[in-house]
Amino acid sequence: MERWQGKVAAVTGAASGLGRALAEELARRGTHLALADVDELGLAETESRCAGAGVKVTTRRLDVADGQAVFAWAQEVFDEHGGVQLVVNNAGVALVANVAAMSVDDLEWLMGVDFWGVAHGTMAFLPRLRAAGEGHIVNISSVFGLLSVPSQSAYNAAKFAVRGFTDALRMELEIERCGVSCTTVHPGGIRTNIVRHARISPEAAAMAGGAERFVRLFDLLARTEPELAARQILRAVARNRRRVLVGPDAKVLDVMARLPAGLVHKVMVAGGRRRM
Ligand SMILES: NC(=O)c1ccc[n+]([C@@H]2O[C@H](COP(=O)([O-])OP(=O)(O)OC[C@H]3O[C@@H](n4cnc5c(N)ncnc54)[C@H](O)[C@@H]3O)[C@@H](O)[C@H]2O)c1
Repeated sequence: MERWQGKVAAVTGAASGLGRALAEELARRGTHLALADVDELGLAETESRCAGAGVKVTTRRLDVADGQAVFAWAQEVFDEHGGVQLVVNNAGVALVANVAAMSVDDLEWLMGVDFWGVAHGTMAFLPRLRAAGEGHIVNISSVFGLLSVPSQSAYNAAKFAVRGFTDALRMELEIERCGVSCTTVHPGGIRTNIVRHARISPEAAAMAGGAERFVRLFDLLARTEPELAARQILRAVARNRRRVLVGPDAKVLDVMARLPAGLVHKVMVAGGRRRM
């Protein structure tokens, strides 16, 4: 608990789901918060939920795909809070579409948020953390950053990229011994609004029996509550873990990702054909 008391955390995607749960959990532990999201209404709701904890909370409407805006926000956070010790690059979107049915615009939108958002957040805050000689960066990937699945090519690409980027950064920081560290998070299904906010191609929706059925299916399969995920992530940061798998499904997918690709793909292709 004391580890977070009086510290400052910057969290993107704080208007919903995992980001909101992290903000609330950190506020409970006495951490001052700089929260950002494109959804201003949701941000205001998160802010009011954290207000009772007696910590300072600042909010900013921010599109993490916009690099200049993220760098400006990092400066603002330092000006308003006097420093930052924890950065959580959490903002993310989902896209369900086979490559053949996906537009370049949709792919760029997803990469802009899920990969570039993480890269911008990391690069904007890193120089200040290094100068202070302390701090931790948490980058949210996914189990889909461990294992590819049909209809998730864009999300897979972004989340694998987050993993590669953060793993390399972790080793760089270890070589440098500058007091800064980072963790990659691979959540399994977390019960949030991610699929409600997703872009789903008409083909993918039809295959699931409609977009609403797709959402219901996700709600059924996503077993982990965001509050539990938030606590697990903070525990992993406290232990300076390089990677954290969130939820029992994440552990299963991690094992699957270590099996020969030919075998795993065969099983998934057979499942996909049955669904068609
Ligand atoms: N829910 C899951 O099952 C699951 C699984 C693995 C990984 N993740 C990852 O967890 C993270 C949080 O997602 P969640 O499940 O809480 O979803 P969510 O939709 O509930 O929350 C995501 C938040 O990101 C914000 N956001 C979207 N685009 C943005 C942008 N351009 N700039 C700033 N904010 C933006 C949204 O407004 C929303 O508040 C994401 O990176 C997601 O990919 C989620």
